[in-house]
Amino acid sequence: MTTTVTLTGAGGQIGYALLFRIAAGDMLGPDEKVRLRLLEIPAGLAAAEGAALELQDGAFGLLEHVEVTDDPAVGFDGADHALLVGARPRGPGMERGDLLAANGSIFGPQGSAIAAHAAAGVRVTVVGNPANTNALIAAASADGVPAERFSALTRLDENRARGQLAAALDAPVAEIAGVTIWGNHSATQFPDVAHATVAGRPVWEALAEQTGDVRTWLESTFIPRVAKRGAEIIQVRGSSSVASAANATIDHVRDWALGTGERRTSAAVVSHGEYGVPEGLISSFPVQSAEGEWRIVEGLDPDDWAREHIDRSVAELVEERDAVRALGLI
Ligand code: NAI
Repeated sequence: MTTTVTLTGAGGQIGYALLFRIAAGDMLGPDEKVRLRLLEIPAGLAAAEGAALELQDGAFGLLEHVEVTDDPAVGFDGADHALLVGARPRGPGMERGDLLAANGSIFGPQGSAIAAHAAAGVRVTVVGNPANTNALIAAASADGVPAERFSALTRLDENRARGQLAAALDAPVAEIAGVTIWGNHSATQFPDVAHATVAGRPVWEALAEQTGDVRTWLESTFIPRVAKRGAEIIQVRGSSSVASAANATIDHVRDWALGTGERRTSAAVVSHGEYGVPEGLISSFPVQSAEGEWRIVEGLDPDDWAREHIDRSVAELVEERDAVRALGLI
């Protein structure tokens, strides 16, 4: 079989880190052939064309075809998976309203183009920030495409949280499971370890031995470290997270397409009111996937402390939604 994957922002940094892994089969598995459509704006076309030349030089057995374009109608034509990575970054002195408006003018038309040109079963993964609200805008503009086909990336946050727990507990990261990211992919997100396990044992129990007061450690060390990891990477590396963001995108789409089984992960998906999150918001939840559908895992029963954190992040999503609504973007 062949899957058509459209990547926007293909000439950018994350695009460059993603393309070769998609072509190598990391995202859709070793048996699935891939047709790539690289969508850029005119300023990014040369970089995307350069990446396409390198894809050719990679001689990837699974890669059937690469097309580079700045026309969304061509870029989304027949797309089974659309990875919306290209976005407008926050410029100096740019207010949040300006940022939302600038991104609305990208994600609105892309949502319409997806509805008009993508495959009937298209799945859309939004990476470009502000990812949750960009996904909301794209979904609202994609007439006829169910909102459940849109999700935004919070897997990088989950992977970061697992990495921090592994380090704190001196355990292999592969043994850390069941961490949930709630809310917005922003500094208000809530990385929740209440149901996380290390080698099958509750993380909370292991952390109690290690840190004494778990909640204090979570509040003062873990949550800020995970939520502000992007800024830490910029400070240390001198550039934003790229390979880890691409890696998380691969993890997210692979889980969506191939299923998670009983494993739980996190993704920002449309709320139908689960956990009291207002219907229609694209918020991060505990999820599983089967047959290409995300399913929100219910019944985790956050305690009052967790609830407060979740509510704070969801309130930010409500503010963003209201702002884009006021701008007429949804
Ligand atoms: P970059 O600036 O290197 O690349 C962005 C690319 O998008 C550029 O080549 C630009 O020409 C292109 N682009 C802009 N508007 C476009 C449009 N309308 N159609 C198609 N292409 C368009 O940025 P980078 O480092 O690749 O990051 C991309 C986005 O991912 C940023 O918004 C960043 O904040 C976000 N991000 C999200 C993460 C997450 O966990 N959700 C993690 C890390 C980054």
